[in-house]
Amino acid sequence: MDREAFCRQSRILVVAGKGGVGKTTVAAALSRMAADCGMNVLVVALDDGGALPGLFGVADSFSYEEQAVYESAAGGSVGARVITPDDALLEYLMDHGLKRVAKRLVSTGVLDVVATAIPGIREILVLGKVKQIERAGEADLVILDAPATGHAVRFLTSASGLLDAARGGPLRSQAADVVEMLHDPERCQVLLVTLPEETPVNELIETAYRFEDEVGVLLGPVVVNACFELIPGLGADVDAVVEAASESLDEGERGALRSAAQFRLGRERLQSEQIRRLETELPLPELRLPYVFHAEIGPAQIGPLSEALGQAIDKIGAV
Ligand SMILES: Nc1ncnc2c1ncn2[C@@H]1O[C@H](COP(=O)(O)OP(=O)(O)OP(=O)(O)O)[C@@H](O)[C@H]1O
Ligand SMILES: [Mg+2]
Repeated sequence: MDREAFCRQSRILVVAGKGGVGKTTVAAALSRMAADCGMNVLVVALDDGGALPGLFGVADSFSYEEQAVYESAAGGSVGARVITPDDALLEYLMDHGLKRVAKRLVSTGVLDVVATAIPGIREILVLGKVKQIERAGEADLVILDAPATGHAVRFLTSASGLLDAARGGPLRSQAADVVEMLHDPERCQVLLVTLPEETPVNELIETAYRFEDEVGVLLGPVVVNACFELIPGLGADVDAVVEAASESLDEGERGALRSAAQFRLGRERLQSEQIRRLETELPLPELRLPYVFHAEIGPAQIGPLSEALGQAIDKIGAV
């Protein structure tokens, strides 16, 4: 499928998955890929943005104000910002003529009190802001770096929870708008990320159905992150492969090479088994991303990862 067509299917892509599987890395790679298709992309992080600034070579954390982080030669760009419930509330109050009280209300921690009384209000404030950005057409594509899965399901179901609880008023209409946005595949889609390992795959399969059933959101392809490239012939006979490759090595070096080859073979087998299981149990297209052999991932690694993502998208049929 064409990369740009892929990126233009929904105006919001929520990147979700178990903690540590590479959501932020995938969000960064995806945003660069879309920018390289000429699109203006906004990456939205919650809290402090985690590893996101470093992936764009930015030293400081992101803030509520959008910051330009990437310009593509193709004319596209990536901007990034953090949306917190406090900031979103402050902006909402200011926009509704409550400028004088707004700052004091937020700085006195009143939101914490309200959030205890009305569960889901924090999420509605953030998603309401995302919805406003999408409605205003501020970006061609908004990529939301979601919290880890359990939280992500709660994050996205909070709107329908509030819709049931609130009888009227601005809160209810905000919740209704958010639910409508989540249910519309042209506006919003979830991209699930996993590693080719047992626990992340189990969690992904379980939560995929929860996203569909409880949130009612469309699931895009599954990103299988950090896949080892299969080394041809390694599976046949590790010892023979090591022998052939190590004529000039001493016995100690051969031993180390043999252990490395055996580790790699074990990893390849685990990976293939888990990918097979994922394909059998979850009928979604799959985008595989390579394992990056680098101590730290930064802009120099995100470039090739975004290209790998593009190539994986080129290979899938209609989503
Ligand atoms: N393809 C990859 N190859 C190698 N390492 C990777 C790859 N993708 C991510 N990582 C590394 O894995 C770690 C977790 O990645 P990342 O921060 O993107 O995950 P996350 O799902 O956003 O985590 P969290 O749930 O904490 O937000 C980081 O150290 C990152 O550099
Ligand atoms: Mg993250």
